[in-house]
Amino acid sequence: MLFLGIETSCDETSLALLEGKVNSGLSFYEQINNFEVLGSLTSSQIKVHQQYGGVVPEVGARQHAEQIHWLFEQLLVKTIAKSKKFESRDKLLTSISDIFVTAEPGLVSALRVGVEFAKSLKFFLEKEFDHTVNLDYVNHLSGHIVSCFYQKRLDKDELGLVSCDNSKGGARYAQNNSSASFDIFPHLHLLVSGGNTQTILLKDSYNWEIVGQTLDDAAGECFDKIGRMLGLPYPGGVNLAKIAELKEENYFDFPISMYKSDSINFSFSGLKTALRYFLQEAQVEGFVIQRQLSNVEIEQLAESASLDLSPKLQFIKKVAISVQFVVVQQLCKQFNKAVRQLSPRSVGLSGGVSANLLLRRKLAEIRPQKVLISQKELTGDNAIMIALAGTRKKTLAKNKKLS
Ligand code: KG4
Repeated sequence: MLFLGIETSCDETSLALLEGKVNSGLSFYEQINNFEVLGSLTSSQIKVHQQYGGVVPEVGARQHAEQIHWLFEQLLVKTIAKSKKFESRDKLLTSISDIFVTAEPGLVSALRVGVEFAKSLKFFLEKEFDHTVNLDYVNHLSGHIVSCFYQKRLDKDELGLVSCDNSKGGARYAQNNSSASFDIFPHLHLLVSGGNTQTILLKDSYNWEIVGQTLDDAAGECFDKIGRMLGLPYPGGVNLAKIAELKEENYFDFPISMYKSDSINFSFSGLKTALRYFLQEAQVEGFVIQRQLSNVEIEQLAESASLDLSPKLQFIKKVAISVQFVVVQQLCKQFNKAVRQLSPRSVGLSGGVSANLLLRRKLAEIRPQKVLISQKELTGDNAIMIALAGTRKKTLAKNKKLS
């Protein structure tokens, strides 16, 4: 059986083909890892949105519409070239049993492109090959969560990044995953993306409950907004992390919200406001950030120790290090509190911000729980995670029918 995943919720058009069987006799972890990624292609719109300083929904939707058919054709070609089983286009197309597409949450105009494509493809496949194709709608966040359980190593061949500039590698900190099966539930999960920061308790593969969340901005949103104040191009989080490296310093005593309270929620808008006032004061002292930094300046910031830089760049580097440290501290401290309260058997990390190396390192230190961290290739929006989340829905439906 072949499962096609489709993701167009924001600024990445992504398609993936997975092969495997839904087997209700397997544990959730075994089931997820029972699937093989035959091929995946992701086209990033970052370069398009950079000129506006953030995602413009209508522009994004047009990009998805322009990319998705071409991407699908490329995925077919790539899969046929890789897998001997599918010697022809028709053979491959007739093997698609399920289409899983992101339907929420996301930008409505962008989501619609994926959903309409999925519906048309189902119609075409059923008409042309006279077999039933299952189409199901997937929650984007469940995709992020499920991605941390997929621990089969993805090689470059399986991943196609058509135009993505945030793929600079880094160590993975996924741990304790060598054995094919272990008890993961209850599992406590930290999902950190551009639009969401949530702690979710997974009692089992079906019962999932949000137990903590941001009261205002998401962590990624906070990174992006502060990145913009510092003159970094969109997405600020990616560039801020590049220049902050793995340093653990809070040079300017920026506030770490929430952690003195009993709450396990998060809050990032205080840091954003503190930064605004801090930069205004710094401006009075002569540190004026008037324009977007050039790529050369960003490379310089990424590669040089603070002291080798001009005073202005030194200042930006120190702010970036402090901001990253404060955000990661809050995420880990709040999540740790939740871990202590709920005593899960395993913990997990996913979402775009989980590409952050300092966050990965700090979260991996949580003991004695088993730590499952999404492979770096699965942290951003991608269709592999959507196909995996779709198979979870299918397995649950199958189990329900059997019981
Ligand atoms: O999950 P995602 O790709 O999109 C949403 O569904 O929101 O997350 C995008 C977010 C952006 O805010 C981006 O700045 C942030 O993830 N991000 C990072 C890093 N890589 C991506 N933030 C901090 N450090 C990174 N290495």
